[in-house]
Amino acid sequence: MICVSKNKSNLKLQNLKINGQSPLRGNVKISGAKNSALVLLAASLLTEEEITLTNMPKLSDIEMMKNILKSVGVKFSENIHDKNKLIINSKDLRNGALPFNLVNELRASFFCIGPLLTKLGKASLAFPGGCNIGERPINEHIKGLEKLGASIIKKNGSVTAEINNKKKKLIGTTIKLECPSVGATETLIMAATLAEGKTIIKNAAREPEIQDLCEMLNKMGGKINGAGNSTVIIQGVEYLNGCHHKVIPDRIEAGTFLIAAAATLSSITVKPVIPEHLKSLLKKLEESGSNINVKKDSITIRTEVINAVNIETSPYPGFPTDLQAPFTALMTIAKGNSKISETIFENRMSHIKKLNQMGASITLNENTAFIKGVEKLSGSNLKGSDLRSTAAIVIAALTANDESFVGGLEHLDRGYENFELKLNLLGANVTREYNSFFLNETKESNESEIKTLDKFQAA
Ligand code: EPZ
Repeated sequence: MICVSKNKSNLKLQNLKINGQSPLRGNVKISGAKNSALVLLAASLLTEEEITLTNMPKLSDIEMMKNILKSVGVKFSENIHDKNKLIINSKDLRNGALPFNLVNELRASFFCIGPLLTKLGKASLAFPGGCNIGERPINEHIKGLEKLGASIIKKNGSVTAEINNKKKKLIGTTIKLECPSVGATETLIMAATLAEGKTIIKNAAREPEIQDLCEMLNKMGGKINGAGNSTVIIQGVEYLNGCHHKVIPDRIEAGTFLIAAAATLSSITVKPVIPEHLKSLLKKLEESGSNINVKKDSITIRTEVINAVNIETSPYPGFPTDLQAPFTALMTIAKGNSKISETIFENRMSHIKKLNQMGASITLNENTAFIKGVEKLSGSNLKGSDLRSTAAIVIAALTANDESFVGGLEHLDRGYENFELKLNLLGANVTREYNSFFLNETKESNESEIKTLDKFQAA
């Protein structure tokens, strides 16, 4: 059972002890998608009726989002027979001011600004600073809301959005995003559902999590067309009802396990998945020499050789930035040289230094990694600095022929439900334990962070 610890400092004292080298075998159950579940929680603010979400992943990010919504009157009930079922009731939603400290803890909570503003006529949230992977600006969110008629004031680290017209309604319009931002697309779709008239969003992000959001909003009575395309059309409606909705499987969790299997020359099956969501990864794994067998809701991988391939991350349906770090770990032990370019976030290569400490041979030039495949990696004591780079270090440790200790579980537990349990069910040898040796590293990294605290907050 993962430790959904309420305080991150508890997780900073924990690490995974990993004995590498055992190949993985069997089936792994994929949880609901974190990046869908978070936005569906925000969308539940749009109705006073009950929303029932099933296949919700048990993750610290989800717990944090629930705490944020509870602070403005949202009520949650869990089901004792199904821990992944959540009933949400926003009828007592009292105001649109989310608590500053909590929003700082979870930048994804910023896209609540869309539903809060369109529902209540006013919303104020902490200005979500950058995080360990980059600056993470919100200019597209702000510009789009202003185009819909909101007035936005940024002051003392917070953003207040207000609708000043008599009807207290946003007015549908055409918005062209400069970059296909996932969060901005989600914020603006949710804001437009209760606006007056039609909104057209051009250069919209196409991620499956946006398609899942629009499917739920349409079940609630929304009128949204084009989700998953780069032009999305939303016809505003007066009212949204409650509904039941099942969260889509997490394509990034599934991709992480597929990459872990390839790296350990294993054969596993991931299920349930929507294979379409993983097309770009599957293409690269096949190019690298893995055998992939795709069924309606499962993917089986069998790997006997790992050849070097190049990747460049790009918005969906391109290669996902969230799988760049795990795939880099795979390429460290590939036959030949590979090149990996991160084009989405400016600071998402923190795993390179850690992989080199394990014996990888990578040179980094800005956001491009040039990797010379090596025979083997060696175990080490390493602390990840963000969610996906910590997963990459775990994958690298699974391939090493000795013992590793991996810290940074305060990041890992944000995005992977029961990660070590699922790995052990596949035959890995991973134990979660308390250890203080990362404490100093945490202290050191905290000291270095204090110098830049004004810039970075938790992701
Ligand atoms: C979502 O973040 C995901 N998070 C991220 O997953 C994912 O990596 C990212 O989309 C890209 O796919 C959630 O859904 C909760 P973006 P988001 O806005 O919405 C620039 C994980 O590991 N940009 O699409 O914040 C931005 O700087 C996390 O699960 C602007 O310039 O990502 C970045 O370079 C990490 N202005 C690029 O767009 C804006 O207003 C993509 O950001 C917004 C974004």
